[in-house]
Amino acid sequence: MGDHEKLLAQISESSDAEAVNKIREAALEQLRSAVPGLFASIPELPPAERKARGQLANDVKRQNEELLAACKAWFESAELRAERSGAGFDPTIPGTRPERGSLHPLTRVTRELEDLFTSMGYVVLDGPEVELDWYNFEALNIPRDHPARDMQDTFRCDPQGNVVLRTHTSPGQVRAMERMKPPFRAIVPGKVFRQETTDASHEHTFHQMEGLVVGRDLSVGHLIGTMKTLLRGVFGKELEVRLRPGYFPFVEPGFELDARCPFCTQGCSVCKRSTWVELLPCGMVHPNVLKSGGIDPEVWSGFAFGLGLSRLVMLRYGIDDVRHLLSGDLRFLEQFA
Ligand code: FA5
Repeated sequence: MGDHEKLLAQISESSDAEAVNKIREAALEQLRSAVPGLFASIPELPPAERKARGQLANDVKRQNEELLAACKAWFESAELRAERSGAGFDPTIPGTRPERGSLHPLTRVTRELEDLFTSMGYVVLDGPEVELDWYNFEALNIPRDHPARDMQDTFRCDPQGNVVLRTHTSPGQVRAMERMKPPFRAIVPGKVFRQETTDASHEHTFHQMEGLVVGRDLSVGHLIGTMKTLLRGVFGKELEVRLRPGYFPFVEPGFELDARCPFCTQGCSVCKRSTWVELLPCGMVHPNVLKSGGIDPEVWSGFAFGLGLSRLVMLRYGIDDVRHLLSGDLRFLEQFA
């Protein structure tokens, strides 16, 4: 065993604070005086000797640092030993439990839906939150200056407006078409952003889940069947729903599926006094969108839906204000532990 190893062993076996302190002070002294001197002497040496001196300086530095670390560890454990042997220490008292976190209700419902959809042959895809205008609008049959752009007040990321914070998960439709060969089924859950005046059912940052199925001869019947399975899966029972025509440039025909408001019978702030909560817009994919995604609309058809995930979570857990969800307020979150 070399001198350095002997010193390290001496520290770990020592029961004498004074002896450990002496080693510590010697190591500190070396680091303060000898080591800088060794380094400083290198440029004065003939080139052939510089490498060896450099190595020596590094070794001395490292060894002294190791000694310091060993002394520090010794003093820490000595402190603990003293604490535990002192009067009043009772090893039988139970420890303090660390606080446990829990999954956010949005994460829970997202995971449940992912399980439900993967069991029906869907793949789960992700998409960027900072999105190109092309995917968020143009490829979805919403050209620049089209009035439909007013439906989603957009945060723009550059003066030209080529990059936006995605206003919905629908760009995931075109990205899915680019990535996969038909037939396929996909869901794209995620966060979306709109420049909203917030209220009990509107947040500027909220969650949606896009669904897209591309296949041969798909019809509105397939779409409605899927929507019902989805709602049954989430609520564990048949929910009262209604289907009404809805306009979205990327579907034709388009629908709005609303669920009966669980908070009231005569209208409240969540349902905007209508007793229905707008939950699930959907429709048959417009041929122009299939073309944007490189899919031949003469051969393939598709249906898509854009689930308002944040609103679904509200209905599921009886949350009366969407703004609680991303508030970060522990008093709210702890209710789901
Ligand atoms: C859309 O975003 C379309 N992309 C949905 C779609 C997809 C239609 C596929 C057809 C085919 P809309 O703007 O209505 O549609 O938003 C969809 C859902 O998101 C709404 O039904 C609602 O549940 C939810 N939502 C909309 N705005 C907010 C908001 N500010 N805060 C919380 N949830 C919102």
